[in-house]
Amino acid sequence: MPFFKPKEDTAALVDFDHLPRHVAIIMDGNGRWAKKRGLPRTAGHAAGAENFRTIATYCKEIGLEYLTVYAFSTENWKRPAEEVSAIMGLLKKYLIEAIGKMERDRVKMCFFGDLSPLPQELRDLCEQTREISKHYEGVQVNICLNYGGRDELVRAAKAFALDCAAGKADPNHLTEAQFGNYLFSAGVPDPDLVIRPSGEERISNFLLWQSAYAEYYFTDVLWPDFNRDELHRALAAYQHRQRRFGGVING
Ligand code: FPP
Repeated sequence: MPFFKPKEDTAALVDFDHLPRHVAIIMDGNGRWAKKRGLPRTAGHAAGAENFRTIATYCKEIGLEYLTVYAFSTENWKRPAEEVSAIMGLLKKYLIEAIGKMERDRVKMCFFGDLSPLPQELRDLCEQTREISKHYEGVQVNICLNYGGRDELVRAAKAFALDCAAGKADPNHLTEAQFGNYLFSAGVPDPDLVIRPSGEERISNFLLWQSAYAEYYFTDVLWPDFNRDELHRALAAYQHRQRRFGGVING
């Protein structure tokens, strides 16, 4: 008899009534995905961008409130110019398509990072997307673009210092919540779950402040292959964790 392994129903692993509010993803492994297929790295990013669409749509479908993705870091400028420009091109294409479907999809889009060094056309598209979608409710997608956690903290410290110098803030009364308002993520709850595919197990300067108490989920699957089943596994793993936030359970 041939061996037949029925496909696992991964959706059954998840309690959809108790999803994390905010999931963040480091979309890693595009280059290796392409290399395994004898394709240029840029083809891996194209597949990664496509997968982002699929996963973002599914997150909306299941009722996730916030999805944050790491699309381009402050360190990614070190990559070959043609790879950087291919990623910028994919972002541009994605935003143009997203703008076209905005009224239908009603996804609130935000951008974390310093957009000033990006090509003007891309900056304009980011601004347009943000502006059109700013009143949408339901799901919010945050795209981290030219984002670095340390850069974000330094910017916040500078902005706070300037407010102090202008008499608008008092360093003696600064709270964590107030400092959070100086970050790109102001107003967005901290991520509950941070997913990093591709086998790498590090933070890579992603949401350093915000992920203080996030649960991490690592998998060897490369980002372009990270499908619904993989997301279900990540959500199920999260739901089996005991979050203590520094305290004790039943203590
Ligand atoms: C990391 O994989 C991926 C990136 C640095 C770029 C991610 C960009 C996209 C998915 C495209 C645009 C995004 C959107 C939101 C439309 P890697 O190149 O480091 O992979 P490797 O570790 O296998 O080399």
